[in-house]
Amino acid sequence: MATPSLTLNDGTAIPQFGLGVYHVPPEDTAALVAAALATGYRHVDTAQQYGNEAGVGQGLRDAGVPRDDVWITTKLHDAEHSHDAAIAALEASLERLGTDHVDLFLIHRPGPDGPDSDVAAWRAMAALRADGRVRSIGVSNFERRQLDHLVAETGVVPSVHQIRVNPRTPHRALRAHHRRRGIATESWGPLREGRLVDHPVARRVAARVGRTPAQVVLRWHLEQGLIVFPKASSPERLRENLGATEFTLSRRDVLELSAMRRWF
Ligand SMILES: NC(=O)c1ccc[n+]([C@@H]2O[C@H](COP(=O)([O-])OP(=O)(O)OC[C@H]3O[C@@H](n4cnc5c(N)ncnc54)[C@H](OP(=O)(O)O)[C@@H]3O)[C@@H](O)[C@H]2O)c1
Repeated sequence: MATPSLTLNDGTAIPQFGLGVYHVPPEDTAALVAAALATGYRHVDTAQQYGNEAGVGQGLRDAGVPRDDVWITTKLHDAEHSHDAAIAALEASLERLGTDHVDLFLIHRPGPDGPDSDVAAWRAMAALRADGRVRSIGVSNFERRQLDHLVAETGVVPSVHQIRVNPRTPHRALRAHHRRRGIATESWGPLREGRLVDHPVARRVAARVGRTPAQVVLRWHLEQGLIVFPKASSPERLRENLGATEFTLSRRDVLELSAMRRWF
């Protein structure tokens, strides 16, 4: 089954499911990315601060999948929040990835130098989108007021906001704000860094529908229109997680997962 996709507010189609490579050691990244692409993944989420962009690019070349068939996201380093630094940082990412564009460039988090520097970086990202080196632009880990400030100062609405979302911390109010502004929400830490696979509610729903706990939690994200890219280190888990694209949950299942509470 093909990975589902969503259309962003700039008209670009993004694969709704992918692989995140946070904490993947640089020397292991190419093999993991190549294995994911061979398994059917078409979306990789990296960042300048992960130190593994070169491995992502190498994995893409090793897999032999055409560049245009794969969505690559990277994120601006916290130390590069000025106009010129952001442009230079993206150019360095393109060099490491071995590509002429990235599909999505995010401000990783509000910078240490305050909102003016975020606005300067954001203007640079809009320029990179205009000249084609970046297809879509967005932000990550912003508070609502920071998001609104960026838009008020520049008139440029992010296509994506990547935040920590999972059934235990669903951030409903911020996601509703995104919907009003036409911003897609990406879930980082979709399995709560792996911990939700042991949650009794995930286990119960998984047993009922004949899937694994990881699959039902990842499916919860997909059913709500979230974009998701769990990190996994083995071919077995890569396959298991991609299985979340192959079934649906009932309304009852989704409500049960949404009511997940702290259990330890
Ligand atoms: N914007 C940001 O600030 C930010 C922050 C954090 C993450 N992210 C992005 O979001 C991605 C995902 O988040 P994350 O990596 O922090 O957390 P996550 O995807 O929620 O969880 C990853 C953990 O879950 C385990 N896991 C994966 N599949 C599993 C399965 N089927 N069964 C049992 N355990 C499983 C992994 O173990 P193994 O690796 O051992 O298989 C790993 O320890 C990151 O890789 C990164 O791309 C962004």
